[in-house]
Amino acid sequence: MAAEGLEVLLETEEIDAIVDRVAGEISERYDDGVVLVAVLRGSVPFLADLVRAMSIRSVVDFVAITPYTPGTGRVRFLMDITTDLTDRDVLVVEDIVDTGLTSAFLLGELSRRQPESLSICTFVDRPARRVVPVDLDHVGIQIPDEFVIGYGLDHKGRYRNVRVLATADTAVLERDPDAYVQELYGA
Ligand code: PRP
Repeated sequence: MAAEGLEVLLETEEIDAIVDRVAGEISERYDDGVVLVAVLRGSVPFLADLVRAMSIRSVVDFVAITPYTPGTGRVRFLMDITTDLTDRDVLVVEDIVDTGLTSAFLLGELSRRQPESLSICTFVDRPARRVVPVDLDHVGIQIPDEFVIGYGLDHKGRYRNVRVLATADTAVLERDPDAYVQELYGA
């Protein structure tokens, strides 16, 4: 790719293979179906592919939470699920786990609802940014401490629907948030 600082990490076919592998893991693990709790908004492309690649029954629900604000340590629900989790196997679906604060918050909140089991699945794991330890049960890809866009991951709302996962230069994007539009959308 010609755009400065942009490099494809996963082509679409590689993403598909990862999703198939993770969907297989999940389908083998749960005998009696699973409740997928997806975290808006970045997890939507992964969730949509994952749930269709799974071969077991599932229920899909969504949460929206405030981003963690450094210094406050505060995370809270903007939107909660409506599904009753009592005695259900529950899997949180994330696009990326960084600090782990979002996952830790959700595990704490959802565990109070008496699920049979509660686990986390993420497409991207970026452990270099971890602040709190979290056990990730299903991981698509582990990446180094690089900024990535595409497949749900955004920069200021842009690039979520790009069908590849790409590393990007934040300095370039700060100068021009549309810097990668031509390369990634061909326009
Ligand atoms: C991202 C991502 C996770 C969270 C992970 O969401 O979707 O939910 O950050 O980060 P953490 O491990 O440091 O808590 P974001 O707040 O960017 O919202 P978005 O999905 O709507 O872009």
